Amino acid sequence: MSNGHSLRFQDRVALVTGGASGIGLAVVDRLVREGARVAVWDIDGGKLARCHARHGDRVLVQTVDVGDAAAIEAAMVETVARWQRLDILVNGAGIVGPNGPFWETEVAQWERVVRINLTGSFLASRAATPHLRHNGWGRIVNIASVTANEGPRHLGPYAATKAGVVGLTKSMGKDLAGSGVLVNAITPALIATELLEQLTPEYMAAALARIPLGRPGTLDEAAALVTWLCSEECSFSTGASYDLSGGRGV
Ligand SMILES: NC(=O)c1ccc[n+]([C@@H]2O[C@H](COP(=O)([O-])OP(=O)(O)OC[C@H]3O[C@@H](n4cnc5c(N)ncnc54)[C@H](O)[C@@H]3O)[C@@H](O)[C@H]2O)c1
Repeated sequence: MSNGHSLRFQDRVALVTGGASGIGLAVVDRLVREGARVAVWDIDGGKLARCHARHGDRVLVQTVDVGDAAAIEAAMVETVARWQRLDILVNGAGIVGPNGPFWETEVAQWERVVRINLTGSFLASRAATPHLRHNGWGRIVNIASVTANEGPRHLGPYAATKAGVVGLTKSMGKDLAGSGVLVNAITPALIATELLEQLTPEYMAAALARIPLGRPGTLDEAAALVTWLCSEECSFSTGASYDLSGGRGV
């Protein structure tokens, strides 16, 4: 024990994409607090610098576009060179993309959401997997969304990519079964982060009205579920998606 917190992740090396803000940063904070060393990949250099100021050499911050295959490969080499191993990957990088009817969505807008939310999760998982398999132990956690199942109005590209992430999670879990590497996802509804600022007030009001518990989730609640999925305590689940929606998604 240290500072009243258990050290579930002592000797573990984790990688969190989109880890410079929101849910990703909350996961980074908790992993570090519980003993991990964490590589943080994000597109936002300013937020990465703040993350580094907060955690010092417990984190390795890297400016990476998760949709860029070459950048992912290069960043993975640097990550593994730093601590000589990798145990945990959390795919948190994501954008909401266009709010509107699908017929008004530009192809470039569609492709951008797919590239970051879906291709990014695939690329980071593909790059991490040889290192996790090498250990004979690993955890991958994908941040999907309750919209994967719902397909809300005016969020077609986002919902499609998150449904893709749920499907990818199922398949990756089976591909890696028996290797010691477990792959799971979470499907949050509204978690109080900056990402919500990209949603229209109308969407926000309607979304809150559909949450039986009547409030957004907190970052601590998201980090608690994600880090449990990253831990040894999670041992008999793979390919699964865990609801985190205050009852909206069930
Ligand atoms: N907040 C919610 O209510 C909610 C609900 C369901 C799912 N999610 C998902 O949770 C994840 C985290 O979202 P959040 O709410 O913390 O938002 P956020 O905007 O605070 O965090 C997302 C992070 O991803 C980074 N990012 C964006 N594009 C990137 C790229 N190309 N390469 C690398 N990093 C990139 C951003 O810079 C940011 O730091 C996302 O996948 C999001 O879809 C969020």
